[in-house]
Amino acid sequence: MTVACSPARLPRHLFRTLQCRRCYSTRAPVSLLGQQYPTDSTTNITSAIIDKVGRNLYMNPSHPLGILQSLISSHFHNFNSMVGLNPVVSPARNFDDLGFPPDHPGRAATDSYYINKDLMLRTHTSAHEVETFARGERQWLLSADVYRRDEIDASHYPVFHQMEGARVFSADAAGRAELEDDNARLSHHLARSNIVIEDVPHITASNPRQDVHDPVLAELVALNLKLSLNSLMLTLFGDRAGANEGEPLRVRWIEAYFPFTTPSYEVEVFFRGKWLEILGCGVVQQQTLDRARVPDSISWAFGLGLERIAMILFSIPDIRLFWSQDPRFVSQFTAGQINTFKPYSKYPACYKDLSFWLPHTGLHDNDFCDLVRDTVGDLVQDVVLIDSFTHPKTNRSSKCYRINYCSMDRSLSNDEANSIHAQVISNLKDKFGVEIR
Ligand code: DAH
Repeated sequence: MTVACSPARLPRHLFRTLQCRRCYSTRAPVSLLGQQYPTDSTTNITSAIIDKVGRNLYMNPSHPLGILQSLISSHFHNFNSMVGLNPVVSPARNFDDLGFPPDHPGRAATDSYYINKDLMLRTHTSAHEVETFARGERQWLLSADVYRRDEIDASHYPVFHQMEGARVFSADAAGRAELEDDNARLSHHLARSNIVIEDVPHITASNPRQDVHDPVLAELVALNLKLSLNSLMLTLFGDRAGANEGEPLRVRWIEAYFPFTTPSYEVEVFFRGKWLEILGCGVVQQQTLDRARVPDSISWAFGLGLERIAMILFSIPDIRLFWSQDPRFVSQFTAGQINTFKPYSKYPACYKDLSFWLPHTGLHDNDFCDLVRDTVGDLVQDVVLIDSFTHPKTNRSSKCYRINYCSMDRSLSNDEANSIHAQVISNLKDKFGVEIR
């Protein structure tokens, strides 16, 4: 059934939802990992994304993502390492349970993939924190594919992989003794390593501890978090980061904000001349542990993106390569080894510009990017907005995007590029009713 929309009477944030309703209203149920899900006006998941669900690149021990995943798991060797959790979660799990405010931009249909109003693809591994704590896990890692609508370029892909880690301590004298012991052990290890750390105070007025936490315990947990992650940075980047051999690894801590931790931090590593953001972390909000019914405890947690780190460590220049099945890519990697990727001849890119008048409801860049990706798959290298224009008299707006078509695995002929570009134009007209300029 198609429901006609009248956007003029709706708040702005509903426009796109209704617009999507027009596009997707006749869609059949979505099938994911053998399960059928009904669709509704919220549905915005595309078949290009559905195709990626279940690929589980990080589970392949000789894929760069799998190699990195194993390296991190073996670093935290006494943590329970979980994989294979279903990516379909409720918005409550992904956002509400973690204290995301109702108006957080991540919830928007332009930023996340919704299967229907009650289910979405997780946007981060933190979506599984509550259920993992609730199972009684005290020190754990969780690796998974996560999904976010995004622009298209060499470092953004709507499917990527994260690892979440957490460690729970009892909020009593025994927990305090465990923390003191572990902190002494880790400090000793770091003091003997070639690492320089730029730190921030664990707790400040702008990065406060939680009122429910004992001040001494909160400091000890924050310190344990920092020491544990500094030690992970040594495992990942030590001896690999410096331009010259023997140079120390430089790690920088920055105050951050996440709805589900306080205090919160980001970690950056100085790698081949640049500061690179590696992960987010903090002391878990007590309401998360309360929701999981874990009493009298305090925990830290972190989350990191595997692609970003693997691109650095293996010198992989384009995020799409992780999905390549070309033997020239896959044969370069061996389980347990970090080696430098040797680029093979890149096939030439071929760009086409597309200029059109926007529909009166507007068109988000992510809607355009998803349409291109859904039409041409991985044959799009990047999409760049090169011009926006509003006609002074008619007030009509237009946009011009440059789409770079390029295959990772073969040469794309100009004829083929023309024909897929024509398909993009035709889909753009069908779905959004735009007028080509
Ligand atoms: N979930 C966050 C993200 O995707 C990363 C993160 C930050 C995870 C802080 C954590 C954390 O566990 O404590 O950006």
